[in-house]
Amino acid sequence: MENKKRENSPAESWTEVLLIYNSALKEIGTKLEILNDEFQHVHRYNPIEHIKSRIKSSESIVKKLKRNGYESTIENMVEYVNDIAGIRVICSFVSDIYRIAEMISNQNDIKVLAIKDYIKNPKASGYKSYHMLVTVPIYLSDRIVDAKVEIQIRTVAMDFWASLEHKINYKFEGNVPQYIKDELVECAHMISEVDTRMWNLNEQILDMN
Ligand code: GTP
Ligand code: MG
Repeated sequence: MENKKRENSPAESWTEVLLIYNSALKEIGTKLEILNDEFQHVHRYNPIEHIKSRIKSSESIVKKLKRNGYESTIENMVEYVNDIAGIRVICSFVSDIYRIAEMISNQNDIKVLAIKDYIKNPKASGYKSYHMLVTVPIYLSDRIVDAKVEIQIRTVAMDFWASLEHKINYKFEGNVPQYIKDELVECAHMISEVDTRMWNLNEQILDMN
């Protein structure tokens, strides 16, 4: 969070941090809804299936700071934990993901800090998604702060895979047996193929009208 009007006065309290990140989720959520509505208006089609957002729990924030060797201070949370505010956008097709990402990046008030394209470069686990780390300005009564939001954009199929893989990891506390890992990688490949075939089908149908 950067301070625009006052000298360096980082968030004073955890409640203030929460307020800022909650506002950031609202801002980004509204932007996405507007883009989806406009897309429906112009193309008669909704690129977004649904949106989920969450604020990282304070326990998880503290754990993450500890893991990375930082003390648990509010300054460190804001500086080093990039996913305090997280929003997940679920689309039908891979093409929608890149469309949404581009529309978000083109907005003047949004700054894109980092992109991780795990669709072009999937993780070894098989994980696929498009991640954007952005900041959005939050207008408070006496100053403007830039709040970081992690946006994860993925297809319904990628989301299905990621939820199960997450559950499995949780159940085995990270020590997932190799045969299950292999099966997950294989499922990830199958899911990519389904995504491509469904996209193809949709393109054919669009061409018919
Ligand atoms: P974190 O410390 O987990 O935030 O990772 P990072 O800072 O290296 O960022 P990365 O972009 O790799 O991951 C951020 C988020 O993406 C995670 O918190 C998960 O929500 C999701 N994610 C990344 N990798 C995987 C994966 O292999 N499986 C699942 N299910 N989710 C993943
Ligand atoms: Mg994370």
